[in-house]
Amino acid sequence: MAIDLTQDRPEFLQSGLSHDELNADPIQQFELWFKQVTESDIIEPSAMSLATSDGLEVSLRTVLLKFVDDKGFVFFTNYASKKAKQIESNPQVALLFPWLALERQVKISGRVEKISMLESVNYFATRPKDSQLGAWASRQSSKISSRQILLAQFEAMKNKFKEGQIPLPDFWGGYRVIPHSIEFWQGRENRLHDRFIYTKSNNKWVLDRLAP
Ligand SMILES: Cc1cc2nc3c(=O)[nH]c(=O)nc-3n(C[C@H](O)[C@H](O)[C@H](O)COP(=O)(O)O)c2cc1C
Repeated sequence: MAIDLTQDRPEFLQSGLSHDELNADPIQQFELWFKQVTESDIIEPSAMSLATSDGLEVSLRTVLLKFVDDKGFVFFTNYASKKAKQIESNPQVALLFPWLALERQVKISGRVEKISMLESVNYFATRPKDSQLGAWASRQSSKISSRQILLAQFEAMKNKFKEGQIPLPDFWGGYRVIPHSIEFWQGRENRLHDRFIYTKSNNKWVLDRLAP
């Protein structure tokens, strides 16, 4: 066996989670956990796994959370990428924040919508110039024969946009995941973990405990 982890048995002992301490609003509960995670040593706390499926294939990748509001969780990407194509065919997605150093994970299921172009323009304008050029230079998820092609494309874009502001590419912008369920998981001793799921029903959040 090249790797054998069958004797590895991490115990989760840091803390617990009870119904009483959870906020009635999962977005506010997420904000609280996010604040705690940013105060910890976890690198890239905003990194989340995004799962998409077109019905034939399931696909997963990391993206960065850029903002959260009452409507949902927003990330930015290329609107012609593989994930975008899958979202077009099936807007139901899942997100996972693996905050393992805190023995926590947050799992979100929801429907994706493009954010408004104005919101994307506003965010794009805050990005460093080289990241803006990077967005222009990459046809994300398409096959390329060498890194040289990518670098040449970057230089071409640098030249094209050498004067003035770099506009938002029409193939790039934000998506908002509008949650219909949000689960908070806290590891506990003996695999008796605490799990609470908020589910939207008649426009209200209902909170239930799940077996670990
Ligand atoms: C830490 C980290 C953060 C990332 N953030 C983003 C992001 O915010 N947006 C994005 O499009 N890709 C991001 N990526 C790259 C994606 O994981 C992925 O390679 C890319 O989006 C293409 O995915 P697709 O071919 O499934 O569409 C990130 C990767 C890592 C490891």
